[in-house]
Amino acid sequence: MEKFIINRNTAQLAVLQRTELISPLLRNLRKILGRYIFSQFLSKYLINTSEISNKYFLLMESEYLNIKKYLTKNQTILSIGSGIGGLELLIAKNLKSHISLIEKNYISKKIRYGWDIKNNEGYNKLKLQYNFFKSNGVSEEFFKAYDFDTDNFPEKKFDIIISLYSLDYHYNFDIYKDYLKKILQPNTIMIFDTIRSEYFKKLFKNIDIIKEENNTVHKSKRIACWDLI
Ligand SMILES: C[S@@+](CC[C@H](N)C(=O)[O-])C[C@H]1O[C@@H](n2cnc3c(N)ncnc32)[C@H](O)[C@@H]1O
Repeated sequence: MEKFIINRNTAQLAVLQRTELISPLLRNLRKILGRYIFSQFLSKYLINTSEISNKYFLLMESEYLNIKKYLTKNQTILSIGSGIGGLELLIAKNLKSHISLIEKNYISKKIRYGWDIKNNEGYNKLKLQYNFFKSNGVSEEFFKAYDFDTDNFPEKKFDIIISLYSLDYHYNFDIYKDYLKKILQPNTIMIFDTIRSEYFKKLFKNIDIIKEENNTVHKSKRIACWDLI
């Protein structure tokens, strides 16, 4: 079975970013021992790295297939909140597209997975993300990461902007609104998961709904939209 090359520290990030990778045992231990012990220790030492590698690969492959119709070769892509970037890595590898990644560079002490009004939660490490891309065969020519808290964001034309389970899923779209207004071109396609898809009908001329999550606590829709009004 195909899988990612991933070390324990990076597999921990994948588990923190994708809670569907948490085993039932770990989920129960999180309930009993609390978010701090889970975020700092259990998610790192009570995981099977090889199993996470397989499952994370399959998950990212399914995300790739979900958005594939919007992707072509050699696009310039921005990803907001990519996590370690399994999806973005597959895009760079398969389509030779260049990916810019804006992310946080720290792990919150006790990660809370709801709507984060202050946008304080972070669960990524850019050094680990960098090593993940390199050890899975994507060279620096194809990706560049920007630290949300310390770097100037890239100001260029992007063909696609992706944000899976991050922008407007965990924190308000408005945090990025001014920046996006500067870089969005009429034909730039934005793909993101949101808990309020109706709101974006007022902001964009075109919207496709490409995924719906109705069985989770956090109900959401994945939308592809273009042409900001
Ligand atoms: C639930 S994870 C999703 C990761 C990845 N997109 C995926 O689908 O597996 C949310 C990610 O958003 C990041 N994040 C939080 N606030 C952010 C911000 N203001 N800008 C960019 N990334 C942010 C977190 O660090 C975390 O890696």
